[in-house]
Amino acid sequence: SLVPMAQLLLDAQKGHYAVGAFNCNNMEIVQAIVSAAEAEKSPVIVQASQGAIKYAGIEYIATMTRLAAEKASVPVALHLDHGTSFAQIMSCVRNSFTSVMIDGSKLPLEENIGLTNKVIEAVRPLGVSVEAELGKIGGTEDDITVSEKEVLFTDPAEAERFVSETKVDALAIAIGTAHGQYKGVPKLDFQRLTEIRKRVNVPIVLHGSSGVPDEAIQKAISLGVCKVNIDTNIREAFVAAARKVMADYPQEIDPRKMLGPAREATVEIIREKIRLFGSSGKA
Ligand code: G3H
Ligand code: 13P
Ligand code: NA
Ligand code: ZN
Repeated sequence: SLVPMAQLLLDAQKGHYAVGAFNCNNMEIVQAIVSAAEAEKSPVIVQASQGAIKYAGIEYIATMTRLAAEKASVPVALHLDHGTSFAQIMSCVRNSFTSVMIDGSKLPLEENIGLTNKVIEAVRPLGVSVEAELGKIGGTEDDITVSEKEVLFTDPAEAERFVSETKVDALAIAIGTAHGQYKGVPKLDFQRLTEIRKRVNVPIVLHGSSGVPDEAIQKAISLGVCKVNIDTNIREAFVAAARKVMADYPQEIDPRKMLGPAREATVEIIREKIRLFGSSGKA
């Protein structure tokens, strides 16, 4: 059944591995995420962005994930990814999400702290976990230079203040990753991650992890990352498999002939990620 996210991440922190948080937006992807976790005997986080909720409908996301979790033997958390409004958060809580992200990273520090605390006060009594973000992760901005990007990175002293004043369950940080497909190879600021980890003891979250090389992901986990977010790799695997069927069989009209292989390809990529994160066998 569905469980809160906080304990999964604390266990990961103790065990020096990370739990994968995989974005879903349809039935096949929800099924693939939970099947992959089941096959790997791994805890897992199914997450939905506001865009995914808008596309599928919150009741569909929640009901499909709850059903998959009930049929599974591994713990599954259902998490709102990049929530920005208090109303959206409460709507997720009413729909049995067990975790929410309040992304106040665009706000000035004080306001980010204030909004995060407002969310924590409302949802923690209900057993719902809260992730916040400090620093700006952003999209793949090819035209921004490295020094320009560093201005947006998480400041370790601010991270310490943020965590001491909010007591969040998990903190998303910016150390050089970006959402979506990268042009080149991202260079993570491990020095900064080390500094942040010295100053905060909560599980750290890595966003924009799809284009990050395996070795860098593992190093980040060894330095305190306990939740790794993956969306783009799922989209790539899903669409490539569906596209192949369409190209190979242009006369095919049965959606299941496309979405079935897409679902299988998604299970495979997620199993690979789960093994990379070290959470296999931890359920
Ligand atoms: O963090 C962003 C996720 O990849 C979700 O993206 O807003 O297009 O659903 P989306
Ligand atoms: P990617 O799409 O780069 O994997 O990022 C996912 C993410 O961070 C969702 O919050
Ligand atoms: Na999130
Ligand atoms: Zn993200």
